[in-house]
Amino acid sequence: LLLIGIPELSPVGETERVREIIDRAAPRYDREIGFYERVLFGDGRRWICSRAQGTVLEIGVGTGRNLGFYGDNVQLTAIDLSPRMLEVAQERAKELPRYVDLRRGDAQSLDFASESFDTVLFSLSLCTIPDDRQALREAHRVLRPDGCLILLEHVRSTNFLARAFQRMIEPLTVRFGADHLTRNPLDHLDQLGFKLTELERSKAGIVERLTARKVDSS
Ligand SMILES: C[S@@+](CC[C@H](N)C(=O)[O-])C[C@H]1O[C@@H](n2cnc3c(N)ncnc32)[C@H](O)[C@@H]1O
Repeated sequence: LLLIGIPELSPVGETERVREIIDRAAPRYDREIGFYERVLFGDGRRWICSRAQGTVLEIGVGTGRNLGFYGDNVQLTAIDLSPRMLEVAQERAKELPRYVDLRRGDAQSLDFASESFDTVLFSLSLCTIPDDRQALREAHRVLRPDGCLILLEHVRSTNFLARAFQRMIEPLTVRFGADHLTRNPLDHLDQLGFKLTELERSKAGIVERLTARKVDSS
């Protein structure tokens, strides 16, 4: 809790700090997230990937744990900030029957033309991206009109006690794991020009999965 007083870094400095943390975590990521998949996320990866269609951009692909869940009907491009995570994803992609365009990139400033994807998908990455609202703004820009946004995230709990606990430990999870516990992308969707189409919450509201449509420019 002493860490609450740590000064905020500039967005650029914070993005570099996050990259360093994630690069260091990459070798153990699969082992650690496997535990949370069993305890929290269940069939979440299957749920999100089954809704992706057409030209798909996955943002913050990490070690590529979603790659095997996409249907044959998608043309997949995936980006991540961390070269070490991408190396693992690259190995995973080699096992797949389909080509995946894996690239280094920053969710907050996407290197793609406007209106170039049918689907944009985030899984467990908006909690880590320094400016999550900016990442959603960029997702909106690169989606074609009526395109589909798909999210699987851990978010601020709907339960008072769980939320208080999240608030208490968040300074530590952000400091050491670049992991924000009390965000919720739902706070931004309306304002950024998305219309919610499906929403499911579970595990005291900590796990959220949703789909939304791009309805207008923000
Ligand atoms: C908790 S991991 C989730 C990985 C993967 N999506 C999954 O479901 O297992 C968060 C990922 O977001 C990536 N990330 C964080 N900030 C980013 C940014 N600004 N642009 C792109 N990726 C970013 C990290 O490098 C990391 O791989």
